[in-house]
Amino acid sequence: MAKSSREIENLRLKYLGRKGEINKLMETLPTLPKEERSALGKQINELKVILARALDEQQSSLRKSELLKSEKESLDVTVPGIRPQIGHIHPVTQATTEILEAFTELGYEIIEGPDVENDHYNFEVLNIPKTHPARDLQDTFWLTNGLLPRTHTSAMQVRVMEQRKPPFKIAVPGWVYRQEREDATHASSFHQVEGFAVGEHISFAHLKGTLFTLLRKVLGDETKLKFRASYFPYVEPCAEVSATCPHCKGRGCDICKQSGWIEILGSGMIHPVVLKNAGIDPKKYSGFAFAFGSTRLAMLKYKINDIRLFTGGDLRFLEQF
Ligand code: DAH
Repeated sequence: MAKSSREIENLRLKYLGRKGEINKLMETLPTLPKEERSALGKQINELKVILARALDEQQSSLRKSELLKSEKESLDVTVPGIRPQIGHIHPVTQATTEILEAFTELGYEIIEGPDVENDHYNFEVLNIPKTHPARDLQDTFWLTNGLLPRTHTSAMQVRVMEQRKPPFKIAVPGWVYRQEREDATHASSFHQVEGFAVGEHISFAHLKGTLFTLLRKVLGDETKLKFRASYFPYVEPCAEVSATCPHCKGRGCDICKQSGWIEILGSGMIHPVVLKNAGIDPKKYSGFAFAFGSTRLAMLKYKINDIRLFTGGDLRFLEQF
């Protein structure tokens, strides 16, 4: 067994080198009788291969043992280790968790649903038939089998209502997908939280009270809300809600484009047709529903001016939270 690389190299030269033993043997071939030449030539070649392989093996085991030896000798236990990088919770998840805590305090049950939906739950049962112009607002990607990535968490409303008897209060967090031209404020996937409650004698006052409690918890105690009439086919009446900007408290700043207000969610009283579609008697029960973009709320909370940063995967951005 060779003890050093040099020894191995010397052996290699001695046997396999240009003027080595193997070549010397080769040179004797022409002096032999013809019939013996080819058999002997073959044997010499086999010997050459065996020798080369043996030397390679020695070389590599020598390298391994040298490496081990040097590791042992250089192990200094006082040198500080390399700290493994520890990840943390994504800013959208952080904001969502905070929102869901507020829902839980109000007695809401938190339920998740499928990201891939069908036309029935995403549109039809929400009073948005095939030809309804409201579909244009939520243009999306369609799969070849007729399913679609859900365009809003409202798709979970009837799924949940079918499975329960009122009264119930539900919050549905989840990603939604739209066909968007992406820019600083529009992304083709973003995160929403839907809230809805159904029971006897539920009124718009309950909706207002719920939104004030939730949004003040998330945006601060002094938050004021503004309700403006709007239109979504699955609620009637329908209100778009704006909150006073949490950064300037409504005085006007860059974040709220000097208006003092931030549009935050869509809401309303669940349309009787939707209750009926879910098998709930609209004469006996009523309910409210609302949804806001948690991505948007996270942007507002952490003063982030470009929605694309959330899904860009840039650690310089993500590590700030
Ligand atoms: N689904 C709507 C959207 O994604 C938001 C919305 C509006 C949800 C009104 C509601 C509602 O529950 O009542 O744009």
